[in-house]
Amino acid sequence: MENILIEKQDAIAIVTINRPTKLNALNKATIQELHEGFKSLNEDKSVKAIIVTGSGEKAFVAGADISEFANFSVEEGGKLAAEGQRLLFDFVQNLSTPVIAAVNGFALGGGLELAMSCHFRVASDNAKMGLPEVTLGVIPGYGGTQRLAQLVGKGRAMEMIMTAGMIDAETAKNYGLVNHVVPQAELLELATGIATKITKNSSVAIAKAIEAINANFEDGTNGYEVEIKNFGLSFGTEDFKEGTTAFLEKRKAEFPGK
Ligand code: COA
Repeated sequence: MENILIEKQDAIAIVTINRPTKLNALNKATIQELHEGFKSLNEDKSVKAIIVTGSGEKAFVAGADISEFANFSVEEGGKLAAEGQRLLFDFVQNLSTPVIAAVNGFALGGGLELAMSCHFRVASDNAKMGLPEVTLGVIPGYGGTQRLAQLVGKGRAMEMIMTAGMIDAETAKNYGLVNHVVPQAELLELATGIATKITKNSSVAIAKAIEAINANFEDGTNGYEVEIKNFGLSFGTEDFKEGTTAFLEKRKAEFPGK
């Protein structure tokens, strides 16, 4: 992989987008590598949580790579959005392994869209977030018009997208866009600490919970029905046997992840 780094620490994988001279902008190759990286980590049963961050101290991701689409036609523009959503943004949202975005600086355009595709977000206090697409004469194309409104509410999303303004980390926390804000030097420690807590729990149950929570935001899907189905299915797992047995035996569960 030329544009991303993957490092494993016990059951946690850290994916770092590594194009610091371009503020980690998402070109086609990086999106493809992220797809392949997330796919293989999701298939690796020893990985129980994934953190995604940007290299350097300045940016998480400063957006889609503008130099790649500046000359695109209507057809090519539509294809860019569709392919990107399929390979990366919808893909990450629907991974069964939890993905935490550690937003370490600018998260603009496709960068904020990537962070919003993750299951939740934490940020460093220097982070700046926004969807500046209308300054370029386009609109967010990697799910930004949908996910920003889901996360911060319609009115705030309208204002952020229309003004193309950036919000700072504290405002993002007040909006519910990020869960925690810490100094940059502590960001990975915070994300790893949360990921470690996640790794102690049943990965099978967590995967079913992700599916049920996401169902709330899918057209034509009844989230309550998905919850009922996945709740029932949990009773057939080895993790359920271990979790309930350990509780009754007053010991910590050692989940097999099956
Ligand atoms: N696509 C392609 N290249 C990008 C990029 C993007 N989205 N964002 C930054 N870069 C490149 C710059 O072109 C520059 O490359 P160069 O050194 O070869 O000229 C390098 O990254 C550093 O960026 P620079 O603009 O010099 O840094 P800055 O500190 O002055 O400004 C930003 C930082 C984030 C405010 C500014 O880079 C910016 O506005 N980027 C675009 C954000 C955007 O509109 N994203 C949405 C895309 S749909």
